[in-house]
Amino acid sequence: MNGTAEIDMAKLNEFIGKAVTDLGATFNAGLVVIGDKLGLYKAMAGAGPITPAELASRTATDERYVREWLSAQATGGYVTYDPATQRFELPPEQAFALANPDGPVFFPGAMQLALATLKAEPRIIERFKTGEGLGWHEHDPELFQGTERFFRPNYIGNLVSNWIPALEGVEHKLKLGAKVADVGCGHGASTILMATAFPKSQFVGFDYHPASIEYARRAAADAGVADRVTFEVAAAKEYPGNAEYDLVTFFDCLHDMGDPVGASAHVLRTLKKDGTWMIVEPFASDKLEENLNPVGRVYYSASTMICTPASKSQEVGLALGAQAGEARLRDVVTKGGFTRVRRAAETPFNMVLEARP
Ligand SMILES: C[S@@+](CC[C@H](N)C(=O)[O-])C[C@H]1O[C@@H](n2cnc3c(N)ncnc32)[C@H](O)[C@@H]1O
Repeated sequence: MNGTAEIDMAKLNEFIGKAVTDLGATFNAGLVVIGDKLGLYKAMAGAGPITPAELASRTATDERYVREWLSAQATGGYVTYDPATQRFELPPEQAFALANPDGPVFFPGAMQLALATLKAEPRIIERFKTGEGLGWHEHDPELFQGTERFFRPNYIGNLVSNWIPALEGVEHKLKLGAKVADVGCGHGASTILMATAFPKSQFVGFDYHPASIEYARRAAADAGVADRVTFEVAAAKEYPGNAEYDLVTFFDCLHDMGDPVGASAHVLRTLKKDGTWMIVEPFASDKLEENLNPVGRVYYSASTMICTPASKSQEVGLALGAQAGEARLRDVVTKGGFTRVRRAAETPFNMVLEARP
């Protein structure tokens, strides 16, 4: 250690306090996933104050484990604890966020994503040394499901009600019957939501990851929209189509691609002359110093483990990162040949760019 550095004990204590909170939060990722998968939050939602034995009995789980889990949940404010009755309760707001997968703020998917991502840590350490990439498909499969469950609530809350109406003339075309490609569609959450909202339009979801496409096909059948949605394995620079789509959408995937400029040029070839490319990306300012906040922390961390290695695993390996910012994205899109790009909408988590030929 540098002998000249003076330690300010108050600052040190403040930092250790923050780090201990982070440590508890890191463990809590596992506990949230446990509560989600075992139905503990669901069983507590609307149930009022409950004992560990009652919760264990309702969820066919072991009382001792459930008591420890509840105690941990109470320390983090996920549940409340009443010492007088020794009962635990899931407040309505927490129930809304933790036990409502179709709600707009469902949270356990995010923790599932984070936990799955951490399983790649030994391989990411190697990639730091070699500079090589790690493909999206090489992650633990829980990442694919966690991503869908994290993003879908946000799409439920914004896609049909805010983002599509913010694009010039697109909602009208979709209502009448349009042709749409959803590229990098993953499990197809966005594709299926759009197909449900616009029954006269035809949708095709593309993703280079075969397991995600298989999942998306099953999800479309389950949602009853398989008559108007198909899913095909194809990379962003190779999906079929020649000047035929009214709308091409990229949800949270452009920055994961090795060659986003090449993808942009391909989108342009597949779009009709009056078509629209909707690009949904993580919200970010152009300057790092403006992204030093809790959302930026989530995204830079995920980007270190997922997005940057994913891009580096593909041709070109541009590695935009999840916090590229509008100016950098605009540059990529226009280098591919688009002439008009504007920010059509934003939320605390996303920005929506509209690109026109
Ligand atoms: C963060 S996930 C987003 C998935 C989905 N769009 C969503 O919003 O839930 C990124 C997706 O991009 C896909 N992807 C990455 N590179 C790709 C490429 N070059 N061509 C097509 N898909 C790609 C991955 O397989 C993954 O499904």
